[in-house]
Formats: sequence, C-alpha cells, structure tokens
Amino acid sequence: MKIIRDEANGEAVRINMRKPYDMHQHLRRDAMLKLVAPMVARRFAGAVIMPNTVPPITTAEMAWRYQEEIAEAWDLNIGSFEPLMTLYLTDMLEPREVALRFAKRTAVGVKYYPRGLTTGSDSGVKDPASLWTKGTKPYEVLRALAEQNKVLLLHAADGLDTYGDELDPYEQEKHFIENTLPYIIDAHPTLKISVEHLSTKEGAEFVGKYGGKRLGCSLTAHHLMIDRRDVFRGGFHPHMHWWPIIQPQEHKEALRDLAREGPPFVWLGSDSAPHPIGKKETRCCIGGVLTAHAGIEFYTDVFEEIGILDKLEQFSSVNGPSFFGIEPSKEQITLVREEWKIEKPFFVAKLGTPLSKTEEVIPFRLGETVRWKLL
Ligand code: NCD
Ligand code: ZN
Repeated sequence: MKIIRDEANGEAVRINMRKPYDMHQHLRRDAMLKLVAPMVARRFAGAVIMPNTVPPITTAEMAWRYQEEIAEAWDLNIGSFEPLMTLYLTDMLEPREVALRFAKRTAVGVKYYPRGLTTGSDSGVKDPASLWTKGTKPYEVLRALAEQNKVLLLHAADGLDTYGDELDPYEQEKHFIENTLPYIIDAHPTLKISVEHLSTKEGAEFVGKYGGKRLGCSLTAHHLMIDRRDVFRGGFHPHMHWWPIIQPQEHKEALRDLAREGPPFVWLGSDSAPHPIGKKETRCCIGGVLTAHAGIEFYTDVFEEIGILDKLEQFSSVNGPSFFGIEPSKEQITLVREEWKIEKPFFVAKLGTPLSKTEEVIPFRLGETVRWKLL
C-alpha cells in the first residue's frame, strides 16, 4: 500500500492498494443485479454473495446457477470479479449439500439468519439452539462445514430472551453474543465463524478477546460512519435503516476502536442491501440500503476521519479473503482525494409492470459529498 501526501499540509491525496474484497454483499437478482454488479466489480476483486434472494439459495445447485447469473451481469471490461457464494441455512438444509458439493469451490460458507429478524429471513433457523444441539440438521450442517474448513456466517441476533420474551431490537446482538455464540463455539471448536456486520460494543469486546484463526468479524462502513443520532435527527431516516440496527454512539466508538487496533480477524463486509423506494418509504420500512455506489470510498472516508488510513489495505484487501482461504488480489486500485457528490437516485425496472416502468433506489448519503474517489 502506498499513501501519497501533500508536501505542504501532509494530507493524504492518493492511495494505491490491492483490490479489496467485500465479504458481505447483497447483489440481488434481475434488474437490481444488473444495476449493482458493475458497481461492485469495479471496486472489488470479489465478494461474498448473500443468499437471501427470492427464492433463497438453499442448494449447492442453486448457488451455482446464481453464480452464473452474476457472471453474466457484470461488464467484462471492468476486469475479473469473483463471486463467492453462500448457502442459506434453513432448518431443512441437508448436510450433504455441504459435505459433497462444497468441494467444487462454488461456495465459501453457510449463512445463518435468525428467522424473522431481518429482511429475507423467513426461511431462517427458528431455534438458535439447533446450532449446538446434536441430531438437528443445522448441527450436522455445521459439522460438515467444519470438516470442509468453510465458514459459518452469522447474522448475530436473537429474537427472544432466555425467558422466551421478545427482545428489544437494540438488545438482539448483545443477547446473541452473550447467550448464543459461546454455545456454537463450544459445540464446534474447529469451525470457522464470521460474525457479520458487527454493531455493538459487546460484540467488539467478544471478538476482540476471542478472535483469531477460527473467529472473526466484518464491519460495515455505515456502522462505522453513523450512529442512532443520525438516524433520528429531525425525524426518522428510512435510508439509514439496516439490520442490525444502527446503535447509539458508544457502540460506533467501540467498532472504531476495534478497527484502530487492526487485528487480522476484522475485515470489510459492506452489507450493501439495496431496495426499491417502495419498500423503504412505506408503512413498514424494511432494513437494508444500497452502499455499493461508493463501496470502498465510504470506508476510505471514515478510515481517514478516524486516523487509520494506513490500515485500510489490510482491513479491506487481506484480512477477509485470508480468513476465508482465498488468495488476496494481485490487482491494484487507486483512490484520489477528490470530492464528489452522490447526486442522483438510481433506477430499476419495477417488478410486475411493463418494462418501461422504473422505480427509484435511494443510495446511502444521497445529496452528500464523498471525500475520496476511485480512479
Ligand atoms: C439485508 C437485506 O436487505 O437483504 N438487510 C439489512 O438490513 N441488512 C438483510 C441482512 O443482511 O440482514
Ligand atoms: Zn446483509
């Protein structure tokens, strides 16, 4: 990595670094895929593709077909791009889908969604205890995963407390970290586990303490950039609403501290999760916002803001792929210190209407300025 600084004021003006990997990316399908894939392929050498599509990716065969669909959607001029697939862990997922078919290298892991707790999680696991209870399918899937040295990706949230009462959304990750994750680790000591989009100080403390070759986490740009004050300033901002929920400031600070420490088990996973405007500005706003339009730029901005630009390459381009057993990219990208404005919404064809009908997709930070630009 090379950072070039302005001789007069010492400010960073240009960065050359290895092309990053996005370890948590919702590419979607159809029109949305065509919109998002070029944004991602321009910035990233590869990405871990989330399986909560409609319908969800629940067999190795489906993952393979989805991978082909993605390959067709990106513009070859952009360069090579590696979609790293995941399977959706349902209560019915057959362990042999992992045991026999993962060897093909189509998939890098299995994604756990707690049923009902995030967008597209209706097919998720009903009872987290099945992850550590012998004899259940999820337990056997995790055993097969460990044998293949592939990764369990966790949406680290619980819906119920130990008395069976519904948890407050701001408590879901903390509860999972304290009451569910330790059991999973104990039951599957050789399994590689990635806590996705870590969002709390309790999570940061746990991963900071126990992280290593078997346990790590991804951080999103948005959880590093904004906190609950931003989400509610002057009203509720639907285009700042994600799962896991944007926490109060002290949690953002804990995530920033973890990034500052820069351990090898903390990496980039954007959780760019686009939705058409009709799903966001409506009676029930669902979680997820597009960030792929500035997928590396947002991280560069916030890493500069918190004084750790020198740690950007390790975090973005090395730590994630290394944990997942992927060779980091040999390609380079260049970022320059040049402000640009996120000026316009994007458009996608509106499903179920004539082709000419389109719908807006509001990008994160619409109307605002980004400090760094990808050349
Ligand atoms: C994601 C989506 O829209 O698919 N939404 C989100 O708020 N992050 C689902 C997820 O990753 O939890
Ligand atoms: Zn996600």
